[in-house]
Amino acid sequence: MTTMQAIEISRFGPADVLRPVRRPMPRPGPGEVLIKVAASGVNRPDVFQRQGHYAPPPGASDLPGLEVAGILADGDTGSANPFGLKPGDPVCALLAGGGYAEYAVAPLAQCLPVPAGFSMVEAAALPENYFTVWSNVFDRGRLGHGEGGVRETLLVQGGSSGIGVTAIQLAHALGHRVFATAGSMEKCAACERLGAERAINYREEDFVEAVKQATGGRGVDVILDMVAGDYLPREIDALAEDGRLVVIATLGGSRATVDAATVMRRRLTITGSTLRPRPVAFKAAIARQLHEKVWPLLAAGKLRPVIHQVFPAAEAARAHAVMESSAHIGKLMLQW
Ligand SMILES: NC(=O)c1ccc[n+]([C@@H]2O[C@H](COP(=O)([O-])OP(=O)(O)OC[C@H]3O[C@@H](n4cnc5c(N)ncnc54)[C@H](OP(=O)(O)O)[C@@H]3O)[C@@H](O)[C@H]2O)c1
Repeated sequence: MTTMQAIEISRFGPADVLRPVRRPMPRPGPGEVLIKVAASGVNRPDVFQRQGHYAPPPGASDLPGLEVAGILADGDTGSANPFGLKPGDPVCALLAGGGYAEYAVAPLAQCLPVPAGFSMVEAAALPENYFTVWSNVFDRGRLGHGEGGVRETLLVQGGSSGIGVTAIQLAHALGHRVFATAGSMEKCAACERLGAERAINYREEDFVEAVKQATGGRGVDVILDMVAGDYLPREIDALAEDGRLVVIATLGGSRATVDAATVMRRRLTITGSTLRPRPVAFKAAIARQLHEKVWPLLAAGKLRPVIHQVFPAAEAARAHAVMESSAHIGKLMLQW
């Protein structure tokens, strides 16, 4: 077989520009493997790519899709292979693109074994969210300050998103106090079931006041933010001394006015990152940390992805429409 089924962005526009097509099968290069895909995750960046606002990095597939799970079919497993993966193994992988397809190529270093007891759909829901949350909350945001660290407080904006659900579950499982914001009572209730001590309906309540009240006026140690814009000055108010604000998206706009004197006086850190364009070596380092610290929690059933809905891959446009409605809690998935 030289061609495969894929979902392409036929032109930039609304969800229905996503079209099932036949494409040549991708070929793995050195350090890469071919995966026969069973399930693909849908992420908000796929929507931005479809709209023409988020181009794939140089060298990446033009097909959308940042994560898959399936069977390792072929490729270079001879070089650096930290998890001892081989053809026939069930794997999940972080991609820079190309996940909406029956076959995908991934750097071996960005592949992890499917955790014991996980379905392919559950495994495909892990990479994008866990790589992003680990890298931003624990590495950049230093929640708990690393090994043998302290118990700290985290505020997750957009708590019901795929990213938000992961951040709540992981920080809670590692013993931290978690607060979250979401746009409805139903979403807030879900955040609290997942481990948030208090979820704040931002349409009805001020998150600054709510977290100050819950922390005895101190504020939180880390904020994971996907809104930015006019949230930034308020987040600076909601941080404790030495607090860290990590921005991973600008859903509310990218411009803000902040009080630099407060940043100095309270010794705050404002940082952020985007995962997709980072080099393989950077993602490989995150994969090793996830394998060591998080995969055992997944295998032990202490963490489980929240799957909102699974669509046949040919109906990817429907999955995008749900994502844009923001009606979902957790992950939207495609199955091949
Ligand atoms: N920097 C990185 O490396 C990186 C990596 C992956 C994803 N991301 C970003 O992280 C964010 C979450 O990704 P995801 O795939 O988990 O998304 P998702 O599941 O679609 O969730 C986004 C949620 O954000 C909330 N929201 C708040 N303000 C919004 C606004 N102005 N417009 C739309 N939604 C708004 C919505 O819930 P409410 O109803 O509660 O408002 C929505 O459900 C996305 O912005 C994505 O681009 C960044």
